This record gives sequence, C-alpha cells and structure tokens, in this order.
Amino acid sequence: VGAHALQLPLVLIGPMGAGKSRVGGRLATSVGVPFIDTDTRIEQRHGPIDAIFARDGEAAFRALERDVVAEALTEPAVVSLGGGAVLHPDTRADLEEAAVVWLTVTPEAVAVRLVGGNRPLLAGGGIERWKAIQVEREPVYASLADLEIDTSRRSVARIVEQITERF
Ligand code: S3P
Repeated sequence: VGAHALQLPLVLIGPMGAGKSRVGGRLATSVGVPFIDTDTRIEQRHGPIDAIFARDGEAAFRALERDVVAEALTEPAVVSLGGGAVLHPDTRADLEEAAVVWLTVTPEAVAVRLVGGNRPLLAGGGIERWKAIQVEREPVYASLADLEIDTSRRSVARIVEQITERF
C-alpha cells in the first residue's frame, strides 16, 4: 500500500488511444496496487483480440470481455477497460458503484498514437472511424465518469497526480 489511500477499484474508461493502459500502469505503480488491463487479460486467456473479432465477431468478443471485466472489478486494483467495454449494460451497472476516470483525447492527438496499433474496429477506417465511434460513445462515458481528464497535452505524470488528488 502506497502513501495514498486510493479508492479501489479505480477504473479508467475512454476511447481507443486515450492512454488508459499507459496511465493505469503508471498510476498503479505510483500508489503500489496491482494494475489490470482487461484487453491484456483477454489476450492472455483467449489469444489476440483481432483474431477473436475475425473468427467469432464483435458480439462474441463483448461476451468474453464482460466476463474479464466483471472479475477485474472485484479486485482492489487500478483497472483499465477496453474502449467498448461500457457498451455492456452489466458493466455500466457495475461502474455506478466504482471510482471512474474518463480519459479523453482530441482526434489530432490520437491520430499519432494509433499509428501501427492492432485495433480491429479501426481497420480500414482510421481516424474517421475513430471519430464516429467516439461520437456514439461519448454520452455513455460522460454518464459514468466521476472525473474527466483530457490527455492530449498533459504528461502521464501530471494525469496520475490529478487522479490521486481526486481519489
Ligand atoms: C475496442 C477497444 C480496444 C479493444 C478492442 C475494442 C473498442 O481497447 O478492447 O479492440 O471497442 O473501442 P483499447 O480502448 O484499449 O484500444
């Protein structure tokens, strides 16, 4: 246990490329609690995410994702969720009870971060597809968030500091 009594689980939500994994890892290290990245856990159990999408489709992915998220949300950890995890109603219900940080990013800043990434939902669509998904999900993120932080022009250290100040 670190110097901060962080409210746990502390959950990071937001679109692809907002920095959920990077910030979550750094935050967990700095406060001395475990870090769970749900995408990583899905891949450890079920193989690469793009292969799951290609073989079984998005609905099957969401079902696997829900199981991993439900389990992660019972742990005293910093938890970063895949961008679409909030599409599941049971996950939204769980998040009503949790400390939730919404990481945002501008399309300009995210374009640089998403280069070369392995993200099946953006395949062929690039930044225009990212924007369309973002418009659809933004109200959901907003409704769940206790704190919103724009990561576009902030250092990871500063973002971590803002989260620990609040929780
Ligand atoms: C997805 C986001 C990805 C991953 C999957 C689907 C989405 O996670 O879960 O490719 O629907 O937004 P990141 O937000 O960590 O990129």
